[in-house]
Amino acid sequence: MSTVDDITALILDDHASFRRGFARLDDARDEQELLAIWDALALHLDIHAEAEEAILYPHLVKHGDDGEDETTDAIGDHNKIRDAIAEAKLHPVGSKPWWDAVGTARRENSEHLAEEEDEALPDFRRHASTELRAELGQRWLTFYGEHKAGRNLSFHDKDPQQYVADHR
Ligand SMILES: [Fe+2]
Ligand SMILES: [Fe+2]
Repeated sequence: MSTVDDITALILDDHASFRRGFARLDDARDEQELLAIWDALALHLDIHAEAEEAILYPHLVKHGDDGEDETTDAIGDHNKIRDAIAEAKLHPVGSKPWWDAVGTARRENSEHLAEEEDEALPDFRRHASTELRAELGQRWLTFYGEHKAGRNLSFHDKDPQQYVADHR
């Protein structure tokens, strides 16, 4: 298995790009730059959460040592990030309420990445074979290809308990 095909490596790549995206907002010089950086970052955050909910968590919830709790937490975190992104869209870019919402998205995302990287992904690695990691990695890439620019995705919150009940 090349590491490129491993779903956990693909997820970590996305996480690194989220951190870079938030950092780039700090360096933006005007509202046009802010908008360009934020639009791309927000879309990527939303697609990433959908991809994990379609591909990673259905496996983790069934096979993880602590899969149900980790999945409940993750869906709840994804909802908070989605809500903050939706809130930011209601305000002029660069305004105080926009920065507040973006700050919330950043904080919630940072907390969530740490939990995912320190708890959910290690649990997944303990139970997923090399073949499965590669297979899900392939599905991950296909998902991104099929949903370029968020095509055919609606970024709506999911009830964490219901999600677990539907997938366990
Ligand atoms: Fe993630
Ligand atoms: Fe996540």
